[in-house]
Amino acid sequence: MTHVIEIKGLGHWFGKGELRRQILFDVDLSIKPGEIVILTGPSGSGKTTLLTLIGALRAVEQGSLRLFGRELHAARDDDRIAMRRRIGFIFQQHNLLGFLSARQNVEMTLELDPTSDARERRNLATAMLARVGLGERLDHPPSKLSGGQKQRVAVARALVGNPDLVLADEPTASLDKVTGQEVATLIERLARERGASILLVTHDPRILGIADRIVAMEDGRIVDAAENRHDGR
Ligand SMILES: Nc1ncnc2c1ncn2[C@@H]1O[C@H](COP(=O)(O)OP(=O)(O)OP(=O)(O)O)[C@@H](O)[C@H]1O
Ligand SMILES: [Mg+2]
Repeated sequence: MTHVIEIKGLGHWFGKGELRRQILFDVDLSIKPGEIVILTGPSGSGKTTLLTLIGALRAVEQGSLRLFGRELHAARDDDRIAMRRRIGFIFQQHNLLGFLSARQNVEMTLELDPTSDARERRNLATAMLARVGLGERLDHPPSKLSGGQKQRVAVARALVGNPDLVLADEPTASLDKVTGQEVATLIERLARERGASILLVTHDPRILGIADRIVAMEDGRIVDAAENRHDGR
Protein backbone atom coordinates (compact mmCIF):
# COMPACT_ATOMS: atom_id res chain seq x y z
CA MET A 1 0.00 0.00 0.00
CA THR A 2 1.67 3.22 -1.14
CA HIS A 3 -0.98 5.53 0.33
CA VAL A 4 -3.27 5.21 3.32
CA ILE A 5 -5.52 7.85 1.79
CA GLU A 6 -5.69 8.69 -1.92
CA ILE A 7 -8.32 11.21 -2.94
CA LYS A 8 -8.89 12.48 -6.46
CA GLY A 9 -11.53 14.92 -7.69
CA LEU A 10 -13.69 14.59 -4.59
CA GLY A 11 -16.89 16.66 -4.61
CA HIS A 12 -19.62 16.77 -2.00
CA TRP A 13 -23.05 18.38 -1.64
CA PHE A 14 -25.43 18.96 1.26
CA GLY A 15 -29.17 19.58 1.13
CA LYS A 16 -31.93 18.61 -1.26
CA GLY A 17 -33.66 20.30 -4.18
CA GLU A 18 -33.18 24.06 -4.29
CA LEU A 19 -31.24 23.97 -1.06
CA ARG A 20 -28.65 21.63 -2.49
CA ARG A 21 -25.27 23.28 -2.13
CA GLN A 22 -21.79 22.14 -3.08
CA ILE A 23 -19.48 21.96 -0.07
CA LEU A 24 -16.35 20.27 -1.43
CA PHE A 25 -14.83 21.00 -4.85
CA ASP A 26 -12.34 18.82 -6.69
CA VAL A 27 -10.36 17.83 -3.60
CA ASP A 28 -7.09 15.93 -4.17
CA LEU A 29 -5.20 14.67 -1.13
CA SER A 30 -2.89 11.73 -0.49
CA ILE A 31 -1.39 10.57 2.78
CA LYS A 32 1.40 8.03 3.09
CA PRO A 33 1.75 5.35 5.77
CA GLY A 34 3.07 6.95 8.96
CA GLU A 35 2.63 10.49 7.69
CA ILE A 36 1.20 13.14 10.01
CA VAL A 37 -0.87 15.78 8.24
CA ILE A 38 -2.63 18.76 9.77
CA LEU A 39 -5.65 20.24 8.04
CA THR A 40 -6.41 23.90 8.75
CA GLY A 41 -8.79 26.48 7.34
CA PRO A 42 -11.58 28.87 8.28
CA SER A 43 -14.82 27.76 9.90
CA GLY A 44 -17.19 26.33 7.31
CA SER A 45 -14.46 25.53 4.77
CA GLY A 46 -15.34 21.83 4.75
CA LYS A 47 -12.74 20.24 7.04
CA THR A 48 -15.14 18.14 9.09
CA THR A 49 -17.04 17.12 5.98
CA LEU A 50 -13.81 15.89 4.40
CA LEU A 51 -12.81 14.05 7.58
CA THR A 52 -16.15 12.24 7.84
CA LEU A 53 -15.92 11.19 4.19
CA ILE A 54 -12.43 9.79 4.76
CA GLY A 55 -13.65 8.08 7.93
CA ALA A 56 -16.27 6.23 5.87
CA LEU A 57 -18.94 7.92 7.99
CA ARG A 58 -20.69 9.33 4.89
CA ALA A 59 -21.10 8.10 1.35
CA VAL A 60 -18.84 9.49 -1.39
CA GLU A 61 -20.87 11.27 -4.08
CA GLN A 62 -18.28 12.34 -6.62
CA GLY A 63 -14.66 11.46 -7.29
CA SER A 64 -12.40 8.75 -5.97
CA LEU A 65 -11.53 8.15 -2.34
CA ARG A 66 -9.24 5.20 -1.76
CA LEU A 67 -8.71 4.19 1.84
CA PHE A 68 -6.10 1.50 2.63
CA GLY A 69 -5.92 0.85 -1.10
CA ARG A 70 -9.66 0.23 -1.51
CA GLU A 71 -12.20 2.46 -3.23
CA LEU A 72 -14.86 3.92 -0.92
CA HIS A 73 -16.99 5.41 -3.69
CA ALA A 74 -19.93 3.03 -4.05
CA ALA A 75 -18.42 0.67 -1.46
CA ARG A 76 -20.85 -1.67 0.29
CA ASP A 77 -21.91 -0.96 3.87
CA ASP A 78 -20.02 -3.93 5.27
CA ASP A 79 -16.83 -2.82 3.45
CA ARG A 80 -17.20 0.65 4.93
CA ILE A 81 -17.68 -0.81 8.40
CA ALA A 82 -14.59 -2.98 7.98
CA MET A 83 -12.52 0.03 6.91
CA ARG A 84 -13.82 2.08 9.84
CA ARG A 85 -12.38 -0.51 12.23
CA ARG A 86 -8.89 0.36 11.01
CA ILE A 87 -9.37 4.01 12.01
CA GLY A 88 -9.05 5.64 15.43
CA PHE A 89 -11.36 8.64 15.81
CA ILE A 90 -10.75 11.54 18.20
CA PHE A 91 -13.27 14.37 18.40
CA GLN A 92 -13.33 17.86 19.90
CA GLN A 93 -15.45 16.60 22.75
CA HIS A 94 -14.18 13.39 24.23
CA ASN A 95 -17.45 11.44 23.61
CA LEU A 96 -16.74 9.06 26.49
CA LEU A 97 -19.63 7.11 27.96
CA GLY A 98 -20.44 8.56 31.38
CA PHE A 99 -21.60 5.34 32.99
CA LEU A 100 -18.40 3.47 32.14
CA SER A 101 -15.00 3.77 33.82
CA ALA A 102 -11.95 5.07 31.94
CA ARG A 103 -10.81 1.49 31.39
CA GLN A 104 -14.20 0.29 30.17
CA ASN A 105 -14.35 3.19 27.72
CA VAL A 106 -11.00 2.10 26.27
CA GLU A 107 -11.92 -1.60 26.27
CA MET A 108 -15.02 -0.85 24.21
CA THR A 109 -12.93 -0.29 21.08
CA LEU A 110 -11.45 -3.76 21.41
CA GLU A 111 -14.85 -5.43 21.78
CA LEU A 112 -15.36 -4.79 18.07
CA ASP A 113 -12.80 -7.52 17.44
CA PRO A 114 -14.57 -10.82 18.09
CA THR A 115 -11.30 -12.76 18.37
CA SER A 116 -10.05 -10.88 21.43
CA ASP A 117 -10.82 -12.23 24.90
CA ALA A 118 -11.94 -10.20 27.89
CA ARG A 119 -8.75 -10.59 29.89
CA GLU A 120 -6.56 -9.52 26.97
CA ARG A 121 -8.80 -6.49 26.35
CA ARG A 122 -8.52 -5.51 29.99
CA ASN A 123 -4.73 -5.80 29.93
CA LEU A 124 -4.39 -3.80 26.72
CA ALA A 125 -6.69 -1.06 28.00
CA THR A 126 -4.81 -0.91 31.31
CA ALA A 127 -1.44 -0.65 29.54
CA MET A 128 -2.71 2.02 27.16
CA LEU A 129 -4.11 4.14 29.99
CA ALA A 130 -0.78 3.88 31.76
CA ARG A 131 0.89 5.14 28.56
CA VAL A 132 -1.28 8.26 28.56
CA GLY A 133 -0.49 8.86 32.24
CA LEU A 134 -3.76 7.61 33.71
CA GLY A 135 -2.60 4.36 35.30
CA GLU A 136 -3.91 5.56 38.65
CA ARG A 137 -7.35 6.47 37.34
CA LEU A 138 -8.50 3.31 35.61
CA ASP A 139 -11.76 3.02 37.51
CA HIS A 140 -12.71 6.69 37.43
CA PRO A 141 -15.83 7.63 35.46
CA PRO A 142 -15.40 10.60 33.08
CA SER A 143 -17.21 12.88 35.56
CA LYS A 144 -14.29 12.47 37.98
CA LEU A 145 -11.64 13.39 35.37
CA SER A 146 -10.44 16.81 34.21
CA GLY A 147 -10.91 17.93 30.60
CA GLY A 148 -7.34 17.02 29.69
CA GLN A 149 -7.62 13.63 31.40
CA LYS A 150 -10.87 12.87 29.55
CA GLN A 151 -9.23 13.75 26.26
CA ARG A 152 -6.30 11.47 27.14
CA VAL A 153 -8.77 8.63 27.70
CA ALA A 154 -10.18 9.44 24.26
CA VAL A 155 -6.64 9.24 22.81
CA ALA A 156 -6.11 5.86 24.52
CA ARG A 157 -9.43 4.64 23.15
CA ALA A 158 -8.55 5.73 19.61
CA LEU A 159 -5.11 4.09 19.64
CA VAL A 160 -5.58 0.91 21.69
CA GLY A 161 -6.74 -1.07 18.66
CA ASN A 162 -3.56 -0.22 16.69
CA PRO A 163 -5.35 1.69 13.92
CA ASP A 164 -3.62 2.33 10.60
CA LEU A 165 -5.08 5.82 10.55
CA VAL A 166 -6.04 8.33 13.24
CA LEU A 167 -8.62 10.96 12.31
CA ALA A 168 -8.84 13.80 14.82
CA ASP A 169 -11.23 16.75 14.57
CA GLU A 170 -10.02 19.66 16.74
CA PRO A 171 -8.95 17.34 19.56
CA THR A 172 -7.43 20.19 21.60
CA ALA A 173 -10.13 22.82 21.06
CA SER A 174 -11.75 22.36 24.46
CA LEU A 175 -8.42 22.38 26.33
CA ASP A 176 -6.16 25.12 27.63
CA LYS A 177 -2.83 25.85 25.90
CA VAL A 178 -0.55 23.59 27.88
CA THR A 179 -2.99 20.69 28.13
CA GLY A 180 -3.74 21.00 24.42
CA GLN A 181 -0.06 20.75 23.58
CA GLU A 182 0.37 17.74 25.85
CA VAL A 183 -2.54 15.94 24.23
CA ALA A 184 -1.26 16.74 20.71
CA THR A 185 2.22 15.50 21.55
CA LEU A 186 0.75 12.35 23.03
CA ILE A 187 -1.26 11.63 19.87
CA GLU A 188 1.87 12.21 17.78
CA ARG A 189 4.13 10.02 19.93
CA LEU A 190 1.73 7.07 20.09
CA ALA A 191 0.96 7.23 16.38
CA ARG A 192 4.64 7.43 15.39
CA GLU A 193 5.45 4.43 17.60
CA ARG A 194 2.80 2.39 15.84
CA GLY A 195 3.48 3.73 12.36
CA ALA A 196 -0.09 5.04 12.12
CA SER A 197 -0.89 7.98 9.87
CA ILE A 198 -2.69 10.99 11.30
CA LEU A 199 -5.02 13.49 9.71
CA LEU A 200 -5.74 16.14 12.31
CA VAL A 201 -7.97 19.20 11.94
CA THR A 202 -7.00 22.17 14.08
CA HIS A 203 -7.19 25.93 14.42
CA ASP A 204 -4.52 25.79 17.08
CA PRO A 205 -1.22 27.24 15.78
CA ARG A 206 0.67 25.85 18.77
CA ILE A 207 0.31 22.24 17.67
CA LEU A 208 1.29 22.65 14.02
CA GLY A 209 4.78 21.45 14.96
CA ILE A 210 3.70 17.80 15.20
CA ALA A 211 2.91 17.70 11.47
CA ASP A 212 5.02 16.45 8.57
CA ARG A 213 2.79 18.48 6.27
CA ILE A 214 0.16 21.17 6.66
CA VAL A 215 -2.77 21.37 4.27
CA ALA A 216 -5.06 24.40 4.14
CA MET A 217 -8.68 24.46 2.97
CA GLU A 218 -10.80 27.40 1.91
CA ASP A 219 -14.37 27.39 0.61
CA GLY A 220 -14.33 23.66 0.03
CA ARG A 221 -11.01 23.52 -1.81
CA ILE A 222 -7.47 22.60 -0.87
CA VAL A 223 -5.57 25.85 -1.33
CA ASP A 224 -2.15 25.14 0.01
CA ALA A 225 0.02 22.25 1.08
CA ALA A 226 3.41 22.76 2.65
CA GLU A 227 6.09 20.49 4.03
CA ASN A 228 6.69 21.22 7.67
CA ARG A 229 10.20 21.74 8.93
CA HIS A 230 11.22 19.47 11.73
CA ASP A 231 13.33 21.68 13.88
CA GLY A 232 14.94 19.85 16.70
CA ARG A 233 13.87 16.40 15.67
N1 LIG B 1 -25.19 17.98 7.69
C1 LIG B 1 -25.11 19.11 7.01
N2 LIG B 1 -26.14 19.55 6.25
C2 LIG B 1 -26.06 20.69 5.54
N3 LIG B 1 -24.97 21.48 5.50
C3 LIG B 1 -23.92 21.13 6.23
C4 LIG B 1 -23.92 19.92 7.02
N4 LIG B 1 -22.74 19.82 7.65
C5 LIG B 1 -22.02 20.89 7.28
N5 LIG B 1 -22.71 21.67 6.42
C6 LIG B 1 -22.22 22.90 5.76
O1 LIG B 1 -21.05 22.54 5.04
C7 LIG B 1 -20.06 23.55 5.14
C8 LIG B 1 -18.77 22.94 5.67
O2 LIG B 1 -18.99 22.50 7.01
P1 LIG B 1 -17.86 21.76 7.85
O3 LIG B 1 -18.49 21.35 9.14
O4 LIG B 1 -17.25 20.71 7.02
O5 LIG B 1 -16.82 22.96 8.07
P2 LIG B 1 -15.52 23.02 8.98
O6 LIG B 1 -14.41 23.46 8.11
O7 LIG B 1 -15.35 21.75 9.73
O8 LIG B 1 -15.88 24.21 10.00
P3 LIG B 1 -15.47 24.40 11.56
O9 LIG B 1 -14.05 24.88 11.56
O10 LIG B 1 -16.42 25.46 12.02
O11 LIG B 1 -15.67 23.10 12.26
C9 LIG B 1 -20.65 24.64 6.02
O12 LIG B 1 -21.14 25.64 5.18
C10 LIG B 1 -21.78 23.94 6.75
O13 LIG B 1 -22.80 24.85 7.04
MG1 LIG C 1 -15.41 21.24 11.76
